[in-house]
Amino acid sequence: MNPVLNQNKSSWDAMADTWFGSTALPVYGCLAPTEDELHLFPDLSGKKVLDIGCGSGHSLCWCGQKGAAELWGLDLSEKQISNAQSYLTENGYHPRLYNAPMEQECGLPKEYFDVVYSIYAIGWTTDLKAAFCNIASYLKPGGVFIFSWDHPLMSCVDVIDDKLVFSGSYIKDEAFSYIQRGQPVTVQNRRMSAYINELADAGFVTERLIEETDSDTLSRAAEFSSGYYSPWRAQKLPLSFIIKARKL
Ligand SMILES: C[S@@+](CC[C@H](N)C(=O)[O-])C[C@H]1O[C@@H](n2cnc3c(N)ncnc32)[C@H](O)[C@@H]1O
Repeated sequence: MNPVLNQNKSSWDAMADTWFGSTALPVYGCLAPTEDELHLFPDLSGKKVLDIGCGSGHSLCWCGQKGAAELWGLDLSEKQISNAQSYLTENGYHPRLYNAPMEQECGLPKEYFDVVYSIYAIGWTTDLKAAFCNIASYLKPGGVFIFSWDHPLMSCVDVIDDKLVFSGSYIKDEAFSYIQRGQPVTVQNRRMSAYINELADAGFVTERLIEETDSDTLSRAAEFSSGYYSPWRAQKLPLSFIIKARKL
């Protein structure tokens, strides 16, 4: 594995318990509209679903409650996989879980899934092209791929005094490291065009791009806050984006 994946794997193993159920369907992201409002997923009854970056398994549990026939998940972190296994088993499900990076071949079946989704995990990949090509290969033709991640503008703006100031670069497409919950991690900034164009190259048609803040946050008075995921910020720019694509 490359050094970034190795570092992120150790850090996610160490952080796993603190993320138990924190970003899971029907939630797509902080202060973003939920699946209950967006209805991006097809009817899951009898469907085979795969979660990329499944974390603690809470999104897979939601799919199970919606009637999905098979629950499959993949995650870089061994600890997340073991948490997901326990959580889903306790809830009466029999998931098939793979401990692997999304950008590498890991033996998942080809042209098998009706729906592949990823809630706040795609941006962790070190190789977006390989991740999308792998995901395309797991889907049946006509299958749906839905994912959410931080909006690319988020890493370009800072709060200075009580203003959002464009202080970064939207153009630079580079990896950066920081400390998350006490652990060193590395992620990469990407432009929106990188996601759209890599989807096209992998054989997807993009059906929806959601760049919204939830209506509750937009309708109330938000006090000033410099927080990264604050309502004040969310009233000025979407914190997350969500894409629904279909494999040709
Ligand atoms: C914010 S959490 C997602 C939580 C999850 N969606 C849920 O429903 O609980 C991000 C997840 O991505 C995983 N991850 C990070 N890099 C990855 C990679 N390259 N391949 C697969 N999973 C990765 C992490 O281990 C972590 O579980």
